[in-house]
Amino acid sequence: MREIIQGGTRRVVVLGTGGTIAGRASHSGDNIGYTAGQVGVADLLGGIDAPEGTTLIAEQVSQIDSKDMSFEIWQKLAQRCAHWLAKADVAGIVITHGTDTLEETAYFLQAVLAPSKPVVLTCAMRPATALAPDGPQNVRDAIAVAGTPGAQGVVAVCAGTVHSAFDVQKTHTYRLDAFGSGDGGPLAYVEEGSVRVLRNWPGPQAAAPLFDRVVSATSWPRVEILVSHAGARGAIVDALVVERKRGAVDAVQGLVLAATGNGTLHHELEAAALRAQAEGIAVVRATRCTQGRILGKPNDALRDPGSLTPVKARIALALELLSAGA
Ligand code: SIN
Repeated sequence: MREIIQGGTRRVVVLGTGGTIAGRASHSGDNIGYTAGQVGVADLLGGIDAPEGTTLIAEQVSQIDSKDMSFEIWQKLAQRCAHWLAKADVAGIVITHGTDTLEETAYFLQAVLAPSKPVVLTCAMRPATALAPDGPQNVRDAIAVAGTPGAQGVVAVCAGTVHSAFDVQKTHTYRLDAFGSGDGGPLAYVEEGSVRVLRNWPGPQAAAPLFDRVVSATSWPRVEILVSHAGARGAIVDALVVERKRGAVDAVQGLVLAATGNGTLHHELEAAALRAQAEGIAVVRATRCTQGRILGKPNDALRDPGSLTPVKARIALALELLSAGA
């Protein structure tokens, strides 16, 4: 579905994917007992004035609770972003998204598109039916960022704060200001439609973006995340290796270990991970800590993805395997 809201000659495209921002509850006092992904994206723009000289275009890409996000929806989203970004009069894109996997979609799109225009994910912690929903202001702020000269790359906007796709993380289960950027700090603030920039926008990656490879893929490398914790064991890793040796369809190709502190692992899990690596499974350690990065040593037997969280490290590893032809 596509609707055009006239306002001017420069265009900002708003792609809807679902989430609490599009959620409906049975009464306005209920901020938690709602169903996500119910209200169409064109309706989310009702009451929001397009900035001067800007036409807003609304397009529904999916309508889901983002806990159920899939690679197939990511493929479609990447394609729709690329389609619109290629048009000279499109200043930027806004994506309405659930908060729960927003950081994963943001990282995925940055890795796959590395756009030279802004792609701005936004969300809400309260459903559209709430007495005081936060979605409309977030959408308004995201449209302001998407139309900001010089803005580029994939970012997230929530509660007046702009986060880079590399750093953004959901940090709170309930508060409206539910996202953080760790020790990198926010990229910018949005104040009454004006964007106060604090640091650099996410730039193009050194390696070429993987767009063609990603959108043409018919299947995705299976990469699992396992957490190291007190009493952790290696049995699940060993079971995954056995499954792979048996030639199971969709056997695991990569493992991300959510490691403690500076990348340490329970010794039983570590031993199993080394066995898995010897069997050809790609293994990466990412820290469980919400801030900081793993400071690796040259002789580390298992590599690390620096400051990437386990969920983002999983995407990076899946893309690496995909580009290697897995
Ligand atoms: C979702 O992620 O789709 C539901 C939760 C939210 O948007 O806050």
